Amino acid sequence: MTQTIMSGDSRMVLMPYSDRWRTLRKIMHQILSARAQDIFMPFQDLESKNLIWDYLEDPDKWWAANARYANSVIMSVVFGRRSALDDPDIVELFETIELFLANQQPGVNLVDGFPVLEKLPKQLQWWRSRGEDIFRKTARRELQRLEEKMKAGTQRRCFGTDFLETEEVKKMGEAQKLFVFGTLMEAGSDTSRVTLGQIIAGAATYPDWVERARAELDAVCGHNAERLPQWEDRPKLKYISAVVKEGFRWRPNIAEIGAPTMLIKDDEHEGYKFPAGTVFTWNAWAIALNPDEYEQPERFWPERFLNDDVENALKGHWAFGPGMRMTGRRVCSGWKAGEMNVWIAIARILYCFDFKQIPGKPIDTMTIPQITKYAAPFDVQVTVRSQAHTALIRRDCEEAMNTKY
Ligand code: HEM
Repeated sequence: MTQTIMSGDSRMVLMPYSDRWRTLRKIMHQILSARAQDIFMPFQDLESKNLIWDYLEDPDKWWAANARYANSVIMSVVFGRRSALDDPDIVELFETIELFLANQQPGVNLVDGFPVLEKLPKQLQWWRSRGEDIFRKTARRELQRLEEKMKAGTQRRCFGTDFLETEEVKKMGEAQKLFVFGTLMEAGSDTSRVTLGQIIAGAATYPDWVERARAELDAVCGHNAERLPQWEDRPKLKYISAVVKEGFRWRPNIAEIGAPTMLIKDDEHEGYKFPAGTVFTWNAWAIALNPDEYEQPERFWPERFLNDDVENALKGHWAFGPGMRMTGRRVCSGWKAGEMNVWIAIARILYCFDFKQIPGKPIDTMTIPQITKYAAPFDVQVTVRSQAHTALIRRDCEEAMNTKY
């Protein structure tokens, strides 16, 4: 259902290893490889200033602010345009992602368990119109907007403008083209907003580590809100890198059960035989919370990652997929962009804001829903640390608020 109908057979994460997947992977690599990260950095800088401004102005909208931030970084890189808070197009995009995730869960669509149902005449396939509708919504609108602006000569140069002019794209079908853009929009937006939310839940429920993060931030940026953390501070802010890794491990993203992968040929493992077509996935939460792997796994405890690998975002957890442990073939293409999204945002948020649980509304961090229809998945009190931090945000972030494209 999620691949054939909702994705026109073109959603990369569900695509079998094939020439088509290799072409897409190559395109993703061009834009997302660790070397291409210079493209992301100025956007992450600007958008994270907008993010903390939003936290200051309307702290109750912290969740929507995270969504706007994550979405605006990728929209700026791919489409050359920024996203606004509560933009109905972003709300719709996140709804589409959530519908995809909901339909991805085992058992939701009978046809995935009983593929024989696909042989029914189309008009009798009751799941089809819902899937097609979701597929149509995804990337078409943004692509049309981009093409119209390119024709009118008003489009900023971005990944989309370069991509549409390549020979490779001219040979691609409509669905394939849409899903290059759709994959980037979806994969690039949801994962960072969810990880930021998990770290905030970790800050409210295990406040001890926040003090240690603060001590490091204050030593580097000033005890009285002298300046915001910058990219150049990264070598001195190892604790923040450990916080980001712990955020990836603590409550894994995407779905509790990972992303399914189908065997393309018969295989055997430890005496068990698996025919081609068997669907495998990894039990992401069980792995992340395994006491044999992690001491006090339930605790948000960045120190567990304060070691020689602290700057290797792929090591020590499975958040970017099991591929990182094995061949590396299917590892998340956007891991570096995602890690940097979270790093700069969380460094600035922690420097400027406090997070507390609301009396009578404790956060149950084991049941934070990933599908929330754009509402915050838990209640938390967000307050600016001091008047000096308010002044810093007003002084250093206003320009980001006034930047338009
Ligand atoms: C920030 C946290 C992120 C997490 C935790 C995450 C996690 C994942 C996971 C678990 C997969 C599935 C891997 C598999 O099939 O085994 C995946 C795939 C993918 N992700 Fe991410 N991701 C993140 C950010 C991003 C970003 C920012 C982008 C793009 C801008 C991105 C683009 C992709 C793409 C294109 C794939 C499909 C790769 C393939 O099938 O070859 N991801 N991601």
